[in-house]
Amino acid sequence: MADTLTVTDNRTGKTYELPVTDGTISAMDLRQIKVQETDFGLMSYDPAFKNTASCKSEITFIDGANGVLRYRGYPIEQLAEGSSFLEVAYLLLKGELPNQTDMDRFRFEVTHHTLVHENTRELLDGFRYDAHPMGILISTIAALSTFYPEAKSVTDDDNRWLQIVRLIGKVPTLAAYAYRHRRGLPYVYPDNELSYSGNFLNMMFKMTERKYQPNPAIERALDVLFILHADHEQNCSATAMRGVGSSRVDPYSALAAACAALYGPLHGGANEAVVRMLQEIGSKDNIASYVKRAKEDRSVRLMGFGHRVYKNYDPRAKVIKKLAYEVFDAVGKNPLIDIAVELERIALEDEYFIEKKLYPNVDFYSGLIYQAMGLPMDMYPVLFAIGRTVGWLAQWQEMLDDGAQAIARPRQIYLGNEQREYVPLSDR
Ligand code: CMC
Repeated sequence: MADTLTVTDNRTGKTYELPVTDGTISAMDLRQIKVQETDFGLMSYDPAFKNTASCKSEITFIDGANGVLRYRGYPIEQLAEGSSFLEVAYLLLKGELPNQTDMDRFRFEVTHHTLVHENTRELLDGFRYDAHPMGILISTIAALSTFYPEAKSVTDDDNRWLQIVRLIGKVPTLAAYAYRHRRGLPYVYPDNELSYSGNFLNMMFKMTERKYQPNPAIERALDVLFILHADHEQNCSATAMRGVGSSRVDPYSALAAACAALYGPLHGGANEAVVRMLQEIGSKDNIASYVKRAKEDRSVRLMGFGHRVYKNYDPRAKVIKKLAYEVFDAVGKNPLIDIAVELERIALEDEYFIEKKLYPNVDFYSGLIYQAMGLPMDMYPVLFAIGRTVGWLAQWQEMLDDGAQAIARPRQIYLGNEQREYVPLSDR
């Protein structure tokens, strides 16, 4: 059996044999297919990249039909059960789990890059009191590029690693500052003695106590949430990171773009949208009519349902659903969980959702946990961004090291006017 695809161009009667590698044909191999020698050659048309692999990757594997997610080969359920977020960050960035020495060094590096330049506070002062923290996060991440101009040397390995560590260390600080700005609270400096997640809680919630002690159940839950959000192969924001980074811009600018992509309600903004939806539904009695609207007049979508890749239960949603009850045991139950569970039950039994293979995704239960932790809704995508920062950096690094990559520059099918003559304004 040959690993090729035979294509006959019925316009010319010519036949071509295209190599099939890793279940894929190369779009560039289509270019040889022409009617006339002067033709540009055949292209493929794929809006929203629904069936186009834009890279070869060794980071994250998803089997959407069977609900499987693995980072560097390790099942997400095992990582969520046994590892810490920084361990997973190391794994995603380096390809292997760290040994104790690697882990200690990495933790030390990240911990010692959590402070941000004091000028950042002045920048924060420029935002209105009710500025969305995601807007603040995007802007302050972009601003970091002005503090570290050497970051533009993206092909220098040591320099690149320094920026990676800085970003993992500083994004939680910026996220917490965005929150404190909104509340009018003084900014809290990082505490190097706490874990990555514990320190984030410290920067968010410390008041006048001498030392902030995170609730261990919340600290662990947050760490698991960061693990679950750490990477998800070529999603919208990772594609933004790779696309913008392909211009060889510094990683702060590229990561700000990725963060902006995550902000949208169809991507990382969905966790916020889920809680708003559950509040709008308000009671179990209203679920049926809401589901009806989603499938009949399509005036609403079930937020937290459906996924481009998963056509089965999102494995992250399963872990988060369990985690939700653990957090509720520690801080009290979020009453919206009962509506969520009932909505899930009704939707999963409904022909519309069964036929379209729409299952709960990562965002369906995560917002309920954040809400139980006392976080305002507009912070939910910010929490997503903290975990995903690692994935964006791993994808960016892989893109830079991939000799097959070049500046991202898709083609188009031009359907506009043919050439026409300009008519002066006075004659129109
Ligand atoms: N509720 C009702 N109908 C839906 C939903 C939903 N949540 N999601 C998809 N559909 C329908 C959609 O109307 C379409 O129907 P038809 O084929 O009759 O036109 C069909 O299912 C396929 O949907 P699609 O929008 O073409 O699928 P997509 O792959 O382009 O979009 C999605 C995927 C996640 C954007 C979409 O499912 C959605 O909008 N979900 C709600 C928002 C959400 O939860 N987003 C978080 C995604 S997971 C976290 C992340 O990775 O960012």
